[in-house]
Amino acid sequence: MILVTGGLGYIGSHTVVELLKSEEVLILDNLYNSEKKVLNRIDQITGKDPVFIEGDIRDEKLLDQIFTRYNIESVIHFAGLKAVGESVEVPLRYYDHNVNGTLTLLKAMAKHKVFNLVFSSSATVYGDKNPVPFHEEMPLSTTNPYGTTKRMIEEMLGDLSRSDEKWRIMILRYFNPVGAHSSGLIGESPKGIPNNLMPFICQVAKGERPKLNIFGNDYNTPDGTGVRDYIHVVDLARGHVLALEYLLKNIGLEIVNLGTGRGYSVLEMVKTFEKVNQISIPFEVVNRRSGDIASCYASTDKAKVILKFDAHKNLEDMCADAWYYMNLGENQ
Ligand code: NAD
Ligand code: UD1
Repeated sequence: MILVTGGLGYIGSHTVVELLKSEEVLILDNLYNSEKKVLNRIDQITGKDPVFIEGDIRDEKLLDQIFTRYNIESVIHFAGLKAVGESVEVPLRYYDHNVNGTLTLLKAMAKHKVFNLVFSSSATVYGDKNPVPFHEEMPLSTTNPYGTTKRMIEEMLGDLSRSDEKWRIMILRYFNPVGAHSSGLIGESPKGIPNNLMPFICQVAKGERPKLNIFGNDYNTPDGTGVRDYIHVVDLARGHVLALEYLLKNIGLEIVNLGTGRGYSVLEMVKTFEKVNQISIPFEVVNRRSGDIASCYASTDKAKVILKFDAHKNLEDMCADAWYYMNLGENQ
């Protein structure tokens, strides 16, 4: 059985859908940023019923009970907080959920001799000094507490793997996950005003916000707006299944980027969304957002070689599926 922490969240729920094709799954989620109805949606899509435990990864006793009661073979660890701006305002909350939460989970895994782990890291650890494309050996730096929690956890996992060769760890550095399951039943539902581009565009399309603010058009990019490596969340979810397969055959720690290797600008994203969904997105160019970099996209060589991973879905699919979910899944 696979323990999926944060399995009712955006990326976790899509990964659970992929995993349920061949595995039994136990989801541990405290519903901090997700809803229980996602469980029914997973059931509707897959016809399967994963075990769900509402609880916190920082709860040592609960983890002890889970590892004692269930035959857990591997852990995919998504649980954590991810809002960059909020992490600047309340850093200790981020160090607590992300770093302390992961530490508590790792201690429970060690105690119960579960040594297989896939961890959600982020392209944010490449910082603002490296040239694109970002490859896994580049030096890391971070510009906000959220990113620093990911960097600290990566270091912790490195030390752990060097301390005992029984650990099999895969650190996945995600680029920009967008889109939704093609059923329209699960997707991204940010609470409050979205920070990220695609959810914001969807809310403008729906008339919930009057316009999109484009943060700067004077970057050193083809059209001056920021370039990012958007990856469809279902492709990302498949990457986790491949990562798990790899782990079971190989010892040690690996770090792998999950992106498409291709960057799109904010304007390209807006134009594609408009074309695919036949809807207009009013926008205004405003000042740059502090902390943003001009371009961010992945070197995908390692993912291709060791995971045999390739993204299948394109920007049109990402825009169509995000909008379909916004109209169907979010309202049910
Ligand atoms: P999400 O917020 O949708 O999912 C995280 C889930 O973890 C939520 O369901 C939340 O309720 C749960 N959770 C939070 N703290 C918990 C705790 N202490 N105990 C138990 N459950 C807890 O986020 P997501 O977009 O699915 O991201 C999943 C992981 O991937 C996160 O670690 C995030 O930092 C990382 N990541 C996300 C992105 C992105 O753009 N979405 C990019 C890079 C990395
Ligand atoms: C954000 C996070 C980053 C995280 C990544 C993936 C910040 C500062 N960074 O980065 O840590 O790893 O998400 O989840 O939040 N844009 C607009 N208008 C908007 C929103 C975004 O023009 O309303 C632009 C941004 O300037 C950027 C692009 O769209 O050029 C993508 O933005 P976003 O979706 O927030 O992702 P990242 O900036 O890559």
